[in-house]
Order: sequence, then C-alpha cells, then structure tokens
Amino acid sequence: MDYQQILKDIYQKIQPYASIGKQADYIPALAKINPDQFGMCIHTIQNKTFMHGEAITGFSIQSISKVFSLAMCLSLEGDNLWKRVGKEPSGTAFNSLVQLEVEKGIPRNPFINAGAIVMTDILLNHLKYPEEEYLRFVHSISGNNQIHYNEEVALSERENGYLNAAITNLLKYHHNIDNDIERVLHFYFLQCSIEMSCYDLSKAFLPFANHKQAFTFEGITLTASQVKRINAIMQTCGFYDEAGEFSYLVGLPGKSGVGGGIAAVYPLRYSVAVWSPRLNQKGNSVMGIKALELLTTQTQESIF
Ligand code: DON
Repeated sequence: MDYQQILKDIYQKIQPYASIGKQADYIPALAKINPDQFGMCIHTIQNKTFMHGEAITGFSIQSISKVFSLAMCLSLEGDNLWKRVGKEPSGTAFNSLVQLEVEKGIPRNPFINAGAIVMTDILLNHLKYPEEEYLRFVHSISGNNQIHYNEEVALSERENGYLNAAITNLLKYHHNIDNDIERVLHFYFLQCSIEMSCYDLSKAFLPFANHKQAFTFEGITLTASQVKRINAIMQTCGFYDEAGEFSYLVGLPGKSGVGGGIAAVYPLRYSVAVWSPRLNQKGNSVMGIKALELLTTQTQESIF
C-alpha cells in the first residue's frame, strides 16, 4: 500500500473543509493557536513511517491523554478499575454533568472528563511522583523524552475550568474521589496539556495497534487482552456523542482531543495520528475526521 501517495491525495481532497469549524475557545490558550494547520502520520507495525503536512509540530493532546491514563490505571488496578468507572458509551458531551448526577457519581466510561478525573484520582493513590511518572510513561511509549507538559495551557484551563471543577465536586460528593479536589484537577489539566506531534502520537499508539502483544513501558504492564480491550473502549467511547458517527465513517478505534488531534489504530497494521485545530460542534477535528474517513475508504482497510 502506497501510504505516502494516499496521504498526499487525502490532503488535496480535504481542502474544501479547511475553513470549517474553529479551535477550542473555552481554553483561552488553545484559542490562540493558528487554526490553519494540518498534519498526519502513519506508523506501520513493520516500523515504516509516512508523514504529510505539519506532522512533527507539537500540539496539545488534551483528551487523547485519557488513553495513556487508562493504560496506566488498568495496569495498576486491573479490573478493580471498573468498580469506579463504567465502560459504556455516554452519548453525551465530554464535559456533561447530567448523567453523572443520575448515575450517582460513576462515570459512564474512562474517556469522558468525569472518567478521566476518576482515573487521575486513582493514579494519585498509586504513584509517588504522579506528574513525573506519568510523563515518563509517555516518554517511554512514544520513544521521545522531550515531550513535556505545557503549564501555560494547564493554567489557562484551570482558570476557566468551572465545569471540570463541578464534575470533580459531584464525584467527590458521591465518594468517587479520594484526594483533594485541587490536587486532582491540577494533575488532570497537566495530562491534557501534554504536547506531542502526529509523529509522536502515532508512535505512542503503535503498541495499541499491536494488540496481540503484551507491553511494558516504565513499569506499566498490560496483557495482550488488556491492550485489545483498550481498543474496544476507543471504538465505543473515543468520540463521546460522535462515537457512532466516527465508527460509521472511519471504522477504526480512536481517540480525539479538543487540541484538534485524533489518534487511531488499524489493529495489526498501523497506528495513525492526524491534527487540525478546527473542531466541529462535538469537539472533534473537522479535517481530522475527514482525513481518516478518506484513509479507510481509499485503502479499503478498516476493522469492518
Ligand atoms: O477537560 C477538558 O475539557 C479538556 N482538557 C479536554 C477535553 C477534550 O479534549 C475533549 N475531546 N474532544
């Protein structure tokens, strides 16, 4: 498969979408990003790399970090994790409070904000130096130890993070947060602020694509079955109230972030990351989704 040529074709074909949507503005630091950027990178299981556009430019990975958090929590807690967070699609916005109230503080899944905030609390319970250990895991799985938190983005989100604070309070009311609320939010926002490029992200997702193999990175160990199950959760919950649409159009397990990034895997073949800051109403990258739809359509390769 000539992925290099396919990436070039895709870039041409998505141009009509180039000015649709806008970058996340509820995090002021993200509103300042030039929205007219696009990058894409594929890493195959055979370790071949194909890139197009701004594929080595770092951006805020935001909710894509929730996949790393899930890998760490599953490694540390095993199936006990599922006592505190569910694994059903939410059908609601990533920052919705409604379900959380009705379902008494048990988030629907680890990929909505409430679920990731509970995972953050779990990581705080287990790790001695949470921020350092989290970053070390990301360094190890991506093979890039230059990756860092963007403290300006984290702070900018904290200063406006009323909804996430409300979510954390509601979780705490229902006894699903052990640590101090400010401590949890601080670490959660830092995770979201991590900057990676499409190149880094596709590399970091390769172990998820390679789901027949167990993995260990910096002491975070998952069985092949656990890796496969993370893919299952990406498939059903990776795009919030757009998970069905993504499954329908693209047909790959994936995870989006409001920084405009999407990482996805074609199991046993490749991992792919795409980035373009303009988002649709559901908080997912317009060009990113279109590019992945074209990728799986043009190659006739998807999990279905
Ligand atoms: O907590 C938030 O709202 C952001 N830091 C992350 C949300 C996000 O990326 C949702 N993804 N599409």
